[in-house]
Amino acid sequence: MMEMSLDKLFWDSLWKNNLTAWDLKKVSPPIKDYFDKIENKDIAILIPGCGNAYEAKYLLELGFTNVTIIDIAPTVVGTLLNELDAYIGKQLSVVCGDFFKHSGQYDLIVEQTFFCALDKQLRKMYVQKMKSLLKTDGQLVGLLFDIDFGKPHPPFGGNKEEYVALFNQEFAINYMETATNSVKPRLGNELWIELNPLK
Ligand SMILES: C[S@@+](CC[C@H](N)C(=O)[O-])C[C@H]1O[C@@H](n2cnc3c(N)ncnc32)[C@H](O)[C@@H]1O
Repeated sequence: MMEMSLDKLFWDSLWKNNLTAWDLKKVSPPIKDYFDKIENKDIAILIPGCGNAYEAKYLLELGFTNVTIIDIAPTVVGTLLNELDAYIGKQLSVVCGDFFKHSGQYDLIVEQTFFCALDKQLRKMYVQKMKSLLKTDGQLVGLLFDIDFGKPHPPFGGNKEEYVALFNQEFAINYMETATNSVKPRLGNELWIELNPLK
């Protein structure tokens, strides 16, 4: 079988053709609950592979002032630039680009079906990049699939054992357990993670 290149062209063609089966059409409930408990609305937050950016839209609604979203696909980023124009430069930065080339320092990075979209060979680089983008007391939170999809294309799943072995090179694993409030089709198949970069 031909190797699939999960690059800008690949993702943009999915967006152009509305092949976005992953799209929940709303903020993922475990992430919503986490955001609801954050008191400091001025922390720097990054959402990579943001897609339609429901998580960011919810943060903006809550009044967060320093949100950055990045996606590699120009089509969805174009939509976001129009939709969220009123927030840009005030509460929000929108970046069209490759997460692995992004620079910045964040208090919080949010994982929502981005890790599973990447070629498995990039997982180690993902972990290192996440660490480099976080402040020393920052945190990576969000959801990872706890299921093997067994397909040669995204989403690529995994399990807790694999993720612990991968992340504990660079992060303290404060929490990694089955999310109890996932959307119905994903219930029981997602791990909620809270990871802190090792000093
Ligand atoms: C499975 S979708 C998830 C979108 C969104 N997080 C959601 O849950 O609806 C993965 C997203 O990551 C983007 N993406 C893939 N590789 C990327 C990269 N290297 N840098 C930034 N975005 C990327 C894709 O364009 C796509 O929008």
